[in-house]
Amino acid sequence: MAKILVTGAAGFIGSHTSDLLLAEGHAVVGVDNFRTGRRENLSAALHSTGFTLHELDVAVPGALAKLVAAEQPDAIIHLAALVSVQESIADPALNFSLNVHASQFVAEAARLHGVNRVVFASSAAIYGDAAERPIRESAEKRPVSPYGAAKLAAEALLLGHGACYGFTVRCQRYFNVFGPRQDPSSPYSGVISIFARCDREGRPVTIYGDGRQTRDFIAVRDVARANLLAATRPGVVSGAANICTGRATSLLDLAGIFAARHAGAAAPVHRPARAGDIVHSLGDPAAAAAELGFTARMGVAEGLAELINGPAVPVLS
Ligand SMILES: NC(=O)c1ccc[n+]([C@@H]2O[C@H](COP(=O)([O-])OP(=O)(O)OC[C@H]3O[C@@H](n4cnc5c(N)ncnc54)[C@H](O)[C@@H]3O)[C@@H](O)[C@H]2O)c1
Repeated sequence: MAKILVTGAAGFIGSHTSDLLLAEGHAVVGVDNFRTGRRENLSAALHSTGFTLHELDVAVPGALAKLVAAEQPDAIIHLAALVSVQESIADPALNFSLNVHASQFVAEAARLHGVNRVVFASSAAIYGDAAERPIRESAEKRPVSPYGAAKLAAEALLLGHGACYGFTVRCQRYFNVFGPRQDPSSPYSGVISIFARCDREGRPVTIYGDGRQTRDFIAVRDVARANLLAATRPGVVSGAANICTGRATSLLDLAGIFAARHAGAAAPVHRPARAGDIVHSLGDPAAAAAELGFTARMGVAEGLAELINGPAVPVLS
């Protein structure tokens, strides 16, 4: 069993990843500064003897390296970030600090303290509005936001350090992740969590643009499993892979699924498209299948059912 340090452990993806690692018998060192994460997300993990939590800012020079020196993890799953495209546009310097600089600190910590593997939360945003569909990893990278640019830069930093200093780096290019614990309070949260909140409150959903934009929605429990495989599967080598389903859903389709739950549901409200928003996003999942043995298991309908009916209670060892 491995000891795995998870940055951003109190966040949406980080808490599900921590729960799954613990359920599989691994020890988890959680790191978070609660910028957007919440302690409640870790309510199950905090009851596990295999879990420790450290309140720490990964963008502070030396802070993470000190913890890595003390804990000696086998792998780091680096999820802590500024996660909103819109916030990266409003504050590109903060985006650089949290998404590039902090990733450099992760690479440094791995180099200095003999960590075998680093798993990095990259994003489909690195492709920008790529013409290719579905998008393969070899597609041209044309990020259209500071967020996408920073994720691309961080991939290069980590892969270059791994190649030079001899640790494995897996860059996980998540598409649109959804599921329980995604925070709907920000206007820039995942669209499914916002639609789910409107559904609960009986309000119409807001669609930016014409609603024909499509996304490759992947359930967070699948993403957690992809992280587990990237961090622990024997024989995995450095590289980058899309973490996606290979299936496209339009926002109008999504609004239709929610509307079908209530007779007489209000029609969606349309607003102008937002700067930095990508029109179509569909990933090719073949590389993750070949390189990690990962294939998404949950469809949008199944994932929505879990989201609407409440989070599944994880079984922890
Ligand atoms: N949710 C998605 O659809 C999606 C898609 C692509 C990529 N990603 C990436 O996945 C990762 C996790 O995203 P999420 O959706 O779980 O978001 P989240 O906001 O729920 O999680 C991010 C976590 O990082 C923590 N954090 C932020 N800055 C920190 C710092 N300086 N030091 C320590 N902790 C810090 C936050 O408090 C939070 O708990 C991010 O890197 C994000 O860019 C997410």
